[in-house]
Amino acid sequence: MTVHIGAKPGQIAPTVLMPGDPYRARWAAETFLDGAELVNEVRGMLGFTGTWRGNPVTIQGSGMGMPSLSIYANELIRDYDAQTLIRIGSCGGMQDHVAIRDVIIAMTASTITSPSSGIFREFSFAPCADYGLLQAAVKAAEGKGSKTHVGGIYSSDVFYSERPDLDEQMMRHGILGVEMEAAELYTLAARHGRRALAVLTVSDHLLTGELLPSEDRERTFGDMVEIALEAAFS
Ligand code: HPA
Repeated sequence: MTVHIGAKPGQIAPTVLMPGDPYRARWAAETFLDGAELVNEVRGMLGFTGTWRGNPVTIQGSGMGMPSLSIYANELIRDYDAQTLIRIGSCGGMQDHVAIRDVIIAMTASTITSPSSGIFREFSFAPCADYGLLQAAVKAAEGKGSKTHVGGIYSSDVFYSERPDLDEQMMRHGILGVEMEAAELYTLAARHGRRALAVLTVSDHLLTGELLPSEDRERTFGDMVEIALEAAFS
């Protein structure tokens, strides 16, 4: 047990999928894992462990934003020895060629600040994905016929941005989408020598104002779970 995770030692698998929403963690575990058991419900941040094609997997909610994800990822890594951590979530599209429902596999995640900023001081660290996981996820996504983009994303501290000038600079520099967790996940994985990746679906678009219809959310989320699982065990 840790401060925020009630699982007993051995109840967390070396491979952990991390959706932001704890109810999504439950849906994914019930839909894709065999023998899924609830291993955490502290603060309602549900976590489940089961197997996928015989491989042990935990699906643990991260909550929204880097401070929340940082708590769970730190405890998963330091106390439960998680080796592979894959965020599955949504993002806002930031380029014309990126459409609603497309999959973005984040090669890098830029930030203004993250919970790790304090340790870097003047150093501008570039959080990046594990290359092997990234390659395997691209293959899995293309195999499913998902329109897939690989490149840089932005991990923001705010959903409701008040900085159109900053969005403009990011778009100018090819940032594909914005979400709120990946940069801290990549930084923690780098610090502790673990593998990390973020697989994202475009759920809204900053340029067009479009929103993913709610009936599509479950299917696109299911695709991400399968991409993440295939990448983790390829
Ligand atoms: N901004 C920040 N985070 C997000 C967005 C967004 O537009 N969409 C999904 N996660």
